[in-house]
Amino acid sequence: MYKASQLLDGINSYITNLSYLRQPIELYTPIEYTLSLGGKRIRPLFLLLAYNLYRDDIEKAYSAAAGIEMFHNYTLLHDDLMDRSEMRRGKQTVYKIWGDNTAILTGDVMTALAFQYVSNVDDQHLRDVLMTFNTMAIEVCEGQQWDIDFEKRDDVTENDYIEMIRLKTSVLLAASFKIGAILGGASSSDAQYLYSFGEKVGLAFQLQDDLLDVYGDPKTFGKKIGGDILCNKKTYMLIKAFELADNKQKEILQQWIDANDFDANEKIAAVTDIYNQLDIKQCCVLKINEYYQAALTDLNALSVDSSKTTELKDVIGKLMYRDV
Ligand code: IPE
Ligand code: IPE
Ligand code: MG
Ligand code: MG
Ligand code: MG
Repeated sequence: MYKASQLLDGINSYITNLSYLRQPIELYTPIEYTLSLGGKRIRPLFLLLAYNLYRDDIEKAYSAAAGIEMFHNYTLLHDDLMDRSEMRRGKQTVYKIWGDNTAILTGDVMTALAFQYVSNVDDQHLRDVLMTFNTMAIEVCEGQQWDIDFEKRDDVTENDYIEMIRLKTSVLLAASFKIGAILGGASSSDAQYLYSFGEKVGLAFQLQDDLLDVYGDPKTFGKKIGGDILCNKKTYMLIKAFELADNKQKEILQQWIDANDFDANEKIAAVTDIYNQLDIKQCCVLKINEYYQAALTDLNALSVDSSKTTELKDVIGKLMYRDV
């Protein structure tokens, strides 16, 4: 069994050595830019950790792991354009540097590259892996569409929000685990438990991303704080705030949501102030812990010896306390 740090070293150097750069260079340079900024690389790590529960020859899973990371990075290029986010991984976003068209087209070629890398598996697993990957890719788009639709809606419930983040975020984490399991030769019930584990980890992960979008330190988080508040994203925190607010607080929140002409920093400060009054941060932390705990029970159902899941539990434990 490998340590998570060894798996990360392995996949990081594999990704660094990928040779996709060719003409027209304007299409490919933004990929190099994006990948060079790294990020946490949790999705390829999840794939490799799942694979390593069953097999030790992890090099055989690197191409699929790189495909998962390429796919994730494609979603970020398009997401930043959709969310009008100017900063990611502490640097300017692709559309800010090269324009909207580059973000779209480079994102498109990244999707195709992702499918190419993910297809580089043994024939016996190809169909299963591609079915999993395709289903995930469709669902991520569905989640992103709900996320955008919800910006304009005032009737989004907690359940709507959870289903939206399950689609836009969880299914990619879940598919990473499942593809690792399939390639490792896991039983279909183990592959399904790992998928379900990934789904819950993903819900906690996105809840935490939303929390850090308000309360994170921009230096470590690498994104502009308050972006979700400015876009009227219907996060768990906003939904909860409306639920717990008194009439006066509700009125203030609604005014900021309806405002067309406002100072960005003023809006962020005012909404954050109401979150603070209602202790929304703590509400969100409790919800995050709930999903992480529920996720861990899925691991107990796996057919592998529980000593083998220690590294995985450790990685998830650290993710819970992340500020990045
Ligand atoms: C950002 O994902 C998008 C979300 C699903 C919240 P990460 O937080 O994994 O981003 P990187 O890859 O580490 O930059
Ligand atoms: C992440 O949603 C989902 C996808 C990128 C598909 P966010 O919009 O919250 O991600 P960040 O915060 O920009 O990384
Ligand atoms: Mg975004
Ligand atoms: Mg988004
Ligand atoms: Mg976010």
